Amino acid sequence: MSNDKTAALQSGLGPIGRREFLAGAGLAAGASLLGAPRARAADRVEITFSSAKFFGKQTMAEVVEAYNQSQSKVHVTYVELPPPSSSTEVHQALVQQLVRKTGTPDVFTQDVVWIAEMAGAGWALPLDEYFPASARTDYFPGLVAACTYNNKLTALPWFVDSGMLYYRTDLLEAAGAKVPETWADLVSTAEAIQKSGKAKFGYLWQGKQAEVLVCDAVEVIASNGGAILSADGKSGALGSDKSIEAIQFLYDTINKSKISPSDVLSWDEEPSRQPFTGGDAAFLRNWSYVYSIAQDPKGSSVVGKVGVAPLPHFAGGKSAACLGGYQFGVNAATKNREAAIDFLTWMSSPATQLRFALQLGIAPTRPAVYDDAQLGKEQPFMKQLKSVFVGATPRPVTPKYAQVTLAIQSGVSKALVSGNVKAELEAANTRIDQILGK
Ligand code: GLC
Repeated sequence: MSNDKTAALQSGLGPIGRREFLAGAGLAAGASLLGAPRARAADRVEITFSSAKFFGKQTMAEVVEAYNQSQSKVHVTYVELPPPSSSTEVHQALVQQLVRKTGTPDVFTQDVVWIAEMAGAGWALPLDEYFPASARTDYFPGLVAACTYNNKLTALPWFVDSGMLYYRTDLLEAAGAKVPETWADLVSTAEAIQKSGKAKFGYLWQGKQAEVLVCDAVEVIASNGGAILSADGKSGALGSDKSIEAIQFLYDTINKSKISPSDVLSWDEEPSRQPFTGGDAAFLRNWSYVYSIAQDPKGSSVVGKVGVAPLPHFAGGKSAACLGGYQFGVNAATKNREAAIDFLTWMSSPATQLRFALQLGIAPTRPAVYDDAQLGKEQPFMKQLKSVFVGATPRPVTPKYAQVTLAIQSGVSKALVSGNVKAELEAANTRIDQILGK
């Protein structure tokens, strides 16, 4: 992207005092700063930024460096945590730091499911005074709601994610099949393609005992009209008939229709993505980052042969996508509030969100960014599936999520491995009720 375009997008931002803050450094906000004399490192406010590891055509380190280059008042040191597929480990690393209240890291990225916990524990700084209501209307309302806890904005929207169905356009065409709308359609099409010998695997998903299993479970259960928690959020619903039927369906993909290999039980995102972009599978459930990899001849044998659609549903149910994505938080104990807010504002600006979408394949939380022509060309599915992102189904929203997720992961995993779906889900449900204090 040209510097002019970056500057234009950034100057249109200004929800808070980036202008004022930078004015202190004698810099015009939004101006292209390339070529401007760089302040000596010692003159800059040093802050740290801890984030899960994201990758694509660019790395997070490169994006952070672009911020460091764009102004001369703040210097951000980037601390890389494991990738988001190791959600439990990323969470643990962050909590260990935040609980010490030393102010490090100043800024962090948080999975959408941790916002209630980080806010409830007082670790995330309320951001209301920096991002007034007028600035929040630039984001999808559902994401602002997800970043709000007890009426306080405690996270700033960064990117939205949702589960989606990747399919091979060439294989569907050869089989004379349409993009499946129901799980039954997906099974019969996958079986036909496997039988024809054109693909080894029918359907790949993520059955590893990890956070992503909760996402896959939310999707099948919600697509059967069920849910993980009761409507009031006070008790579990994982033992309900709808949940049992849905998890039984996942079990059957391995053991009955055999459209999925038993390996899916130890796969999270990347191991399930590789056979698909290697040309060995008809269908894959995954997040949006897969699209750019599938279109990159360097790592993909299916360039130009991949379509993306909403996930299928059960007869009588509706397609459901799990709400994912990471958001920004400021450490409530930071000693460098102004610098942290300036960095955060830049990271969530229209220009940087566009950069993340183009370079890392992650979807913007600002509706306006979806209208960018280059994005429409390079990541056409984003605009096409905008309503899927916006209408995604959240995982349980509770400050006790860290405990609830472990109970779901363990219960669903045991159900899938043993085939005792009803008994294992009922047992997990009892644990969830205990955690929620029912
Ligand atoms: C993706 C989602 C995140 C989710 C994780 C699970 O990174 O954005 O919300 O928790 O996958 O692996």
